[in-house]
Amino acid sequence: MSRHHDQILQAAQWIKTATSTVVFTGAGMSTESGLPDFRSPGGHWTKTDPAQVASVEAMQYDYDLFHEFYTMRFQTLKRCSPHQGHRILAVWEQKGLVQSIATQNVDGFHQQAGSHRVFELHGALNHVRCIHQNHPGSPADFMMKNPCGVCGDRLRPGVVLFGETLPAAAWDQAFYEIQKSDLLLVIGTSLQVSPVNQLPIMAKGKKILINRDPVSSACSFDIVFQGIAGEILQQLDDSMNEGTR
Ligand code: OAD
Repeated sequence: MSRHHDQILQAAQWIKTATSTVVFTGAGMSTESGLPDFRSPGGHWTKTDPAQVASVEAMQYDYDLFHEFYTMRFQTLKRCSPHQGHRILAVWEQKGLVQSIATQNVDGFHQQAGSHRVFELHGALNHVRCIHQNHPGSPADFMMKNPCGVCGDRLRPGVVLFGETLPAAAWDQAFYEIQKSDLLLVIGTSLQVSPVNQLPIMAKGKKILINRDPVSSACSFDIVFQGIAGEILQQLDDSMNEGTR
C-alpha cells in the first residue's frame, strides 16, 4: 500500500467530483523526461547565472553566450519526450476531468502528450522568431545562427526572458480559469518565480500540491504529496479507475 494511500483516495475523489479542475505545472513535471529543472541540485540556475544567459540584456549584449545556452536547451529537448504523467493529464482532459493546464514549462510536452487547453505562461522554446519584428523562424535556423529570412535580424527562442512581460493571452486565460476553478493541482514547481507563483493564491477551491521537495509558499494546500510527479499521477489515475473496472 502506498504511503500516501488515504490522501490518494481523497485527492482522486476530488478530481472525479470537481466541476472545474486546473493543473499548474513547473519544471519538476518534466524532469522524469530527462529535462533538468532550474533550482534543484544540477538544475540550470545552479550552474549558470540566469542574468547572463536568459535575460533581455544577455540577448542584446552577449548574444553568443545567450545562443550557446539556448542551443544546449534545444539539443537536450530533442533527446527527450513526454512521460506517462503528461499522458495521464491528457487523458484526464479527454475525460472532462481537467479543464486546462497552465504551465511554466517551455518544452511543449503537455501538447505532445495530447493535452489541448494549455496556457504557456513562459512561452515555448520552439516558437523561434526574430528579435525585433517577430518574424517566425525555426529551431534549426536558430541553432545554426542563420539570420531571419525576412529581415536579416538575429533569431531567438520563444521563451519569456528575464526582463520581459508574460504573454498576456496565456496569463489572462490562466488567471481566469484558476480563479473560477474548484480544484487546482500544482505539480513540480518551487513557486519561487513571480508573477506566476501568485496564481495558486488566486484559486478559491481545493488545492493539491505534488512536489518532490518541500515548497515554501504563501499558498496553503489541502493535500501535499511529497513525491515524484509521474508516480503520484499514476497512483491517482489507478485509484480513479479502480471503481470503473
Ligand atoms: P524549479 O527548478 O524552481 O522547481 C522545480 C521543483 O520541482 C523543485 O521544487 C523540485 O523539488 C520539483 N521536482 C523536480 N523533479 C520532480 C519530480 N519528478 N516530481 C515532482 N517534483 C519534482 O522550477 P520552476 O518552479 O518550474 O522561468 O521554475 C519556475 C521558472 O523559473 C521557470 O519557468 C523558469 C525559471 O527561471 C523562466 O525561464 C522564465
